[in-house]
Amino acid sequence: MTKTLEPCTLVIFGAGGNLSRNKLIPALFDLEAAGRLPERMLILGCDVMPHQREAWLDFVANSLRRTYPDGLNETALQRFCARWHYFDTPIDDMTVYARLQQLLEGTNSDFPPNVMYYMAVRPSAFPSIVEHLSNVGLLSERNGWRRVVIEKPFGYDLLSAQAMQAGLSRHLTEPQIYRIDHYLGKATVQNVLVFRFSNLLLEPIWNNHYIDHVQITHSETLGIEGRADYYEGAGALRDMLQSHLMQLLTLVAMEPPVTMEAEHLRDEKVKVLQAIRPIPQNAVNAHAFRGQYASGVAGGKTVPGYREEAGVAPDSTTETYAALKLFVDNWRWAGVPFYLRTGKRLPENSSAICIRFKQPPQDLLKHARQGPPQPNWIMLGIQPNECLRIEMQAKVPGLDLQTRIVSLDANSRQEGDEDYDAYSGLLLDVMQGDRSLFLRIDEVEAAWRVVDPIIKVWSMERDFISEYPAGSWGPRGTYRLFDRNDQFWRHSLEPEGADLQTY
Ligand SMILES: NC(=O)c1ccc[n+]([C@@H]2O[C@H](COP(=O)([O-])OP(=O)(O)OC[C@H]3O[C@@H](n4cnc5c(N)ncnc54)[C@H](OP(=O)(O)O)[C@@H]3O)[C@@H](O)[C@H]2O)c1
Repeated sequence: MTKTLEPCTLVIFGAGGNLSRNKLIPALFDLEAAGRLPERMLILGCDVMPHQREAWLDFVANSLRRTYPDGLNETALQRFCARWHYFDTPIDDMTVYARLQQLLEGTNSDFPPNVMYYMAVRPSAFPSIVEHLSNVGLLSERNGWRRVVIEKPFGYDLLSAQAMQAGLSRHLTEPQIYRIDHYLGKATVQNVLVFRFSNLLLEPIWNNHYIDHVQITHSETLGIEGRADYYEGAGALRDMLQSHLMQLLTLVAMEPPVTMEAEHLRDEKVKVLQAIRPIPQNAVNAHAFRGQYASGVAGGKTVPGYREEAGVAPDSTTETYAALKLFVDNWRWAGVPFYLRTGKRLPENSSAICIRFKQPPQDLLKHARQGPPQPNWIMLGIQPNECLRIEMQAKVPGLDLQTRIVSLDANSRQEGDEDYDAYSGLLLDVMQGDRSLFLRIDEVEAAWRVVDPIIKVWSMERDFISEYPAGSWGPRGTYRLFDRNDQFWRHSLEPEGADLQTY
């Protein structure tokens, strides 16, 4: 249901950067075109470079024309541009925040008093911005709300996440902080909750009696695309697994919340993270596998290996592939492995949750098939195809009793459905004060606790890392994570992709 939103001001720090240009400006424009922005909302772009307002509006319009090369809704563009103002924030100018305070709160200010600050700056930059805002009173909620959106990474390990939080909590209360994980804004990710909690038929089988294991995969065909300075210090475990994939795990494994209110939802997610069996340092190699892409062929082109990329140390052991086996030690999931993996320079861009069921207690139809029994799978495609697929056995038509896999496919998308980028929904949530899809600090800390031992061991073991050719599905040794020989990575949602031969 569409809510009428209070007027508000959106201040974007880093408005001239990549995130703003590629994601925030288009997402806000989509909301404008759909008539979903509050009527009297104003947007203030802040960045270090000086710009006149006209030049800034050109930047906004050009960003949009690049996103929508086939044309823009010009009326919406006019409305959108009318909302924008620009304010430069040179780093060494001590008067910036006092002037900003005057602009936003001075007696003649037109900016609505409810303010959301979006930190679209590098993580090292925002603690000082928050401090400056606080020092001039711009975070005080005496006349309207103040909300601050921060982008991941939320620290580099548990300690740094706690240090970052200590800095933030000096100036902000927890409900004022919106830790964004844009993955959670994707419609199919939210569909995991709808799928689980509005369909009764799943609940009786959603447990260790029926589920053999769960796989959560995010694969990318791209390499690091010139971002060595960031990636060398991050790696696949921090970049994708500790954040996005662990979030998906919580949605698959959580108990039904009391209500869909933010705190109830987040309480249940935290309980899952807290129930993950800790991995002692001496068991890291049995639970985690890392790899690095070597040169190979990706997208029909020969591409260099990770250590040949510009800015990467020739002896780097930063992982571009990471896989984990986790156990959620609670009543529902005891003994069910959750396999998570992510990698760059893999053969496909895709994200999916694949749930494999156990075999029937008796193999009554052994004679009706060739090869080993085929289990049921429930698969949720997150990207590029938003879909739900259930694989079952059925009789092949004909005189003989033979079985084969059939799949029940539901494409969640139907013709005419609205299609918004995750950022549109999340920005709207911040304006509405809905924190359900944002991470609470105990969630962030619990996720770091799970991967911290792995980070420690990998940072000490720097003499070897497995390689995989670019364009392949990752290092072969990753199969050692599986509990049994009949478990294997599901590389594709297509039945023929479900085997070991796709290397
Ligand atoms: N790019 C993406 O698609 C993406 C996706 C997900 C998450 N993120 C996260 O989003 C954040 C921003 O990433 P980005 O790729 O957009 O970085 P970016 O391209 O470096 O943009 C940051 C912008 O902020 C400016 N800036 C630095 N200090 C500032 C200050 N005190 N006040 C105002 N502006 C300031 C920078 O200017 P200078 O360059 O002159 O310093 C730059 O224009 C990061 O936390 C990143 O992890 C980005």
